[in-house]
Amino acid sequence: MAQIHASDGFETLAIHAGQDPDPLTGAVVPPIYQVSTYKQDGVGGVRGGTHAGVEQGAGRWIEGYEYSRTANPTRGALEECLAALEGGVRALAFASGMAATDCLLRTICRPGDHVLIPHDAYGGTYRLFDKVLAAWGVSYHPVPVSDPAAVRAAVAAYHPKLIWVETPTNPLLSIADIAMLAEIAHSDGGLLAVDNTFASPYLQQPLVLGADAVVHSTTKYLGGHSDVIGGAVVLPDADLAAQLAFLQNSTGSAGGPFDAWLTLRGIKTLSVRMDRHCDNAAQIAQMLARHPKAAQVYYPGLPDHPGHEVAAKQMRGFGGMVSFRHAGGEQAAIEMCARTRLFTLGESLGGVESLIEHPATMTHASVAGSPLAVPPDLVRLSVGIENGDDLVDDVRLALG
Ligand SMILES: Cc1ncc(COP(=O)(O)O)c(C=O)c1O
Repeated sequence: MAQIHASDGFETLAIHAGQDPDPLTGAVVPPIYQVSTYKQDGVGGVRGGTHAGVEQGAGRWIEGYEYSRTANPTRGALEECLAALEGGVRALAFASGMAATDCLLRTICRPGDHVLIPHDAYGGTYRLFDKVLAAWGVSYHPVPVSDPAAVRAAVAAYHPKLIWVETPTNPLLSIADIAMLAEIAHSDGGLLAVDNTFASPYLQQPLVLGADAVVHSTTKYLGGHSDVIGGAVVLPDADLAAQLAFLQNSTGSAGGPFDAWLTLRGIKTLSVRMDRHCDNAAQIAQMLARHPKAAQVYYPGLPDHPGHEVAAKQMRGFGGMVSFRHAGGEQAAIEMCARTRLFTLGESLGGVESLIEHPATMTHASVAGSPLAVPPDLVRLSVGIENGDDLVDDVRLALG
């Protein structure tokens, strides 16, 4: 039976939660159940069920494995592990972070509802609000989520059903005070959802701080090896989780078993990877803070970052992402991105290998001309777990 105790530490949960040895063979790693359907022992006689349990509509519940869109044992193992790591009652794994975001928003919001979003949110999230959900009557309002007074004013103006935050934000690394925003949302009868992709549950646990939902692009730190696209929602409320599972099953946005297995494999080393990501990012941020060609450095671990104190209060470490504005302007920023040796020019983040990118024309091209537009001279670094000195030298040389 379950090897884990409720009091077990994060590192233990990452390796064991949802991942008991296979009862049939003793395999210490959950098998990849690459299967679409399951034999029933007579009509309705479904087997298993530790990870299953989805309402099919009309009050019909499935308590075991019937069909893999509804439940799959490998995906279930990942979901149980994610729920344990975030301190939630239930997690659901999706085909991508955007699928997770979309499913949560459509579970909570109805036409006529308002949502507050960060004024520097991930471009894909902005695009979902602006180009997709707006057409279905859900309105969004960008606010600086690091400024509680601005959030309070927007809550008074719009009475949002939901406050959506990223913290740290992508790509400007702003910090939102999760406990304070939860209190602000709840005081007006709304909910707080946190996209925890940049921090990972190892560095920050929003549900413990009062948030009502956590979203992940598991593509990033949780997977950790740039080899799988996935997403997750973790909830502290079983009723909301049942509604989310219903919509996920109805719309078919769950991830596949091999993707779940790869993500679980990544999660086992999350803590040690994050420690190294944080150390290497701090080294690079400190070098950049002294470098004349870095006009402004965004890293919450720097003492002069406006969110430093809040980050120190709610995060175990300051993360592996560093952004900065190139003093030479946009062209110098673009040219630098093509000059690194170890940092690979590419989108995404959170993998063991370091990546560099130009947000204005790459990850955040979809916010060009909007209130969320990013500075054209901004460079974003996803600092990997290579040798820290090598990475510092690489950035310094590329800066010229
Ligand atoms: C903060 C954040 N949230 C969500 C997403 C979307 O995740 P995915 O690409 O897995 O759909 C991303 C992707 O970059 C992201 O950076």
